[in-house]
Amino acid sequence: MSVFADKCKDIAFNVVDVNKERIAAWNNNDLSKLPIFEPGLDKIIQRCRGINLTFSSDVHKAISEADIIFISVNTPTKTKGIGAGKASNLKWVESCARQISEYAKGHTIVVEKSTLPVRTGQVIKGILESSKISSNSTKPTPTFDVLSNPEFLAEGTAINDLLFPDRVLIGGDNKQALDVLGEIYKNWVPKEKIIYTNLWSSELAKLTANAFLAQRISSINSISALCEVTGADVREVSRAIGKDSRIGSKFLASGPGFGGSCFKKDILNLVYLANYFGLPEVGRFWEGVVELNSWNQSRLTKLILENLFGNLTDKKIGILGFAFKANTNDTRESPAIVICKNLLNEGAILRINDPKVDRNQIANDLETPPDQQNQKNDNLDYSYQKKSWQKMDLNRNFFEGIDAVVVLTEWESYSKIDWIEAAKSMRSPGWVFDTRSIVDTRKVSEAGLNLWRVGDGVLNEQRKRI
Ligand SMILES: NC(=O)c1ccc[n+]([C@@H]2O[C@H](COP(=O)([O-])OP(=O)(O)OC[C@H]3O[C@@H](n4cnc5c(N)ncnc54)[C@H](O)[C@@H]3O)[C@@H](O)[C@H]2O)c1
Repeated sequence: MSVFADKCKDIAFNVVDVNKERIAAWNNNDLSKLPIFEPGLDKIIQRCRGINLTFSSDVHKAISEADIIFISVNTPTKTKGIGAGKASNLKWVESCARQISEYAKGHTIVVEKSTLPVRTGQVIKGILESSKISSNSTKPTPTFDVLSNPEFLAEGTAINDLLFPDRVLIGGDNKQALDVLGEIYKNWVPKEKIIYTNLWSSELAKLTANAFLAQRISSINSISALCEVTGADVREVSRAIGKDSRIGSKFLASGPGFGGSCFKKDILNLVYLANYFGLPEVGRFWEGVVELNSWNQSRLTKLILENLFGNLTDKKIGILGFAFKANTNDTRESPAIVICKNLLNEGAILRINDPKVDRNQIANDLETPPDQQNQKNDNLDYSYQKKSWQKMDLNRNFFEGIDAVVVLTEWESYSKIDWIEAAKSMRSPGWVFDTRSIVDTRKVSEAGLNLWRVGDGVLNEQRKRI
């Protein structure tokens, strides 16, 4: 909405959220305290906030004043009941629709911006229609159009993705409403990039896009494991296949696995829908993408363990990166969570660095209370002490006495580490496990450190020869 406000100066954008703390953070004068770190976002907020962009928790007022409402609430995977573990929990979407049906005035276009299961539009229409039935006869009955306008931005590059989208997708059945939303985008998006479809195609296209992207990551990660045992190099394989115009070069970088709030939940949602509509083979096909992702994370933990002589008890390991990818502070479904938990369960002591993720977030994700860890407290039981970690800046102390460094997020600063200096403080034999292929391999070997790199069968062959 910030980008919308920046590009459409004659429209007022009122962002409302029931979470008052978040709204307060969006209104913070200190732009480094905004709830989401996204390159370029702070400058846009500075330009538009208080002019045609506001943040408030007065949901009812915003609904009653709006001509268009974008529903952008969370749609996580259900944790209980029918479809638990796969289907989306639509409780927040339903609650929004109910509030809109109660407080909207005149004609309102309701836009599904959240990623939703195909045919959710039907549910929203049903709830909105109910306001006609229950509406008091003295007040004019509100009317609605429902559109689907899924968001394809990627965290870390969100501003650029919004400014220069590959396409904008708008689904619906009323041409007039489709045109109203299309006209807003035309303020900065070339008209040939705006695709109009029916509501169901638009809803399904978003799930499909995320499923295809995640599938590419699982595909290259599966080949990466094969490279490591055959002497091939996944970077060379990626380059070779990426040059094929039918395949393309994006999303072919092997790593610790996909994370973020969307990929896993959206594929599982697709699996649920396929099974629901009696297509179990389709469901199993997509479920395999998620299974491979989990397998990849546990295989990384195993190989760290094997290379450190099968024992991590009391070994100090440096973790570089906790966000699920670079240029974001988002840790939802980050591979770092599973890998760190596995290492802690093996008894390792972790030093965790991330330029943008704060200590409380890490504590939350690792389910370890932030106020207790690293305290010299004799009353703590043995198993709790084994789950020891601390967040540290990337200075000399970080490397002091550690056995290994594991690179989990591709922050640019990690590609510039002076490994010769770092190695001086590390315990010997020191290891670098690079799951993102970003460290300077020459410097790591000059420093006398052992290097494991994702999908690098050539390194493995050399090691066998030694
Ligand atoms: N994060 C992404 O990169 C991304 C990209 C594309 C699509 N999406 C989709 O967008 C949706 C939102 O994702 P997110 O990452 O922003 O989630 P989020 O959990 O960070 O934010 C959702 C917000 O909605 C608020 N909310 C919930 N119910 C509300 C209500 N009734 N009224 C007002 N506010 C309410 C919550 O307080 C929360 O702040 C999801 O469906 C997601 O799949 C996200």
